[in-house]
Amino acid sequence: MKNSRILGTGSYLPDRVMHNSELEQLVDTTDAWIRERTGIERRHIAADNETTLDLAYAAALNALDAAGMQPNDIDLIVVATTTPDCVFPSVATMLQAKLGVTNASPAFDVQAVCAGFAYALGVGDNFIRANAASTVLVIGAETFSRILNWKDRNTCVLFGDGAGAVVLGASDEVGIHSTHLHADGRYKELLHVPNGVSRGYDVMQQQEAFVQMRGNEVFRMAVSKLHEVVEEALLANNLEKSDIDWLVPHQANIRIIQATARKLRMDMAKVVLTVQDHGNTSAASIPLALDTAVRDGRIQRGDKLLLEGFGGGFAWGAALVTY
Ligand code: UT7
Repeated sequence: MKNSRILGTGSYLPDRVMHNSELEQLVDTTDAWIRERTGIERRHIAADNETTLDLAYAAALNALDAAGMQPNDIDLIVVATTTPDCVFPSVATMLQAKLGVTNASPAFDVQAVCAGFAYALGVGDNFIRANAASTVLVIGAETFSRILNWKDRNTCVLFGDGAGAVVLGASDEVGIHSTHLHADGRYKELLHVPNGVSRGYDVMQQQEAFVQMRGNEVFRMAVSKLHEVVEEALLANNLEKSDIDWLVPHQANIRIIQATARKLRMDMAKVVLTVQDHGNTSAASIPLALDTAVRDGRIQRGDKLLLEGFGGGFAWGAALVTY
């Protein structure tokens, strides 16, 4: 059985940066509150004519370049997104066409909201382990700004747009040691966009087309489930907390990240933080953080990484990786 390794990483952020001060003009909030309660200082927002596909495409080219691969080397594309361009086809198939991949390899989307990248990575890794693919493009891409109610201070200050990608390749060396995926559908009301196409397009004009969250309750659950899943990942690999070189967490809130780091007894200097610059980019946040730390030289080949994310569903997951 082959293992999968990360051959290259990439990312893309839209040009437009929205600072907290701009949000002060839209809702009853302050830069100080947002920084203190979330750690967010700014986020990127897609241009009107920019879609999730465009963001995914730019991140994919970036990752392919880093891996030294051509689009037709790819034999599976998995895109994690909750904000696809169309009901169908999937972003993944549109991306396949945009990249010029003509080898008829499979391409599909995965929807697990903020845990989407952990899920997509698990899928890609397992395709390689099952010998069903040898080079996989795994992407997290979101235009979450499109499903925000810009009058709701509970949610609009938290999210941003972006995309991150990795190219996985079959290898004799262990890259992805394990992935650990979970869901508990009983908590839907705490974090959701209540409506969708199956309930009728007319309601899509209303508030129900936007993210609604009971933040405090989500926060408590996130801290508890992330603690459990990182412990599970360490135990499965017979590793100690001190064996981890970098925590690459989902970037929802600096206080959630600090709580996980504390439980891992990890110095915050060993945690990749992008929440201040990107906000919560849902499925894109883990690969965006990963690519940031790979490109600035913090994450080196051979480093042990713990990736984790939690979000709507609830769905959550972790991956233990030697980069
Ligand atoms: O990625 C998917 C998973 N998502 C998460 O993990 C998000 C989890 N939740 C959170 O990050 C935090 O709960 C929030 C950042 C959403 C909220 O922080 P909090 O410390 O839990 O605040 P809270 O909801 O308990 O609200 C405290 C106060 C409330 O006012 P009162 O009732 O005490 O008067 C809110 O109305 O803060 C108020 N508030 C705000 N004030 C200024 C809520 N949003 C804002 C805001 N600006 N934007």
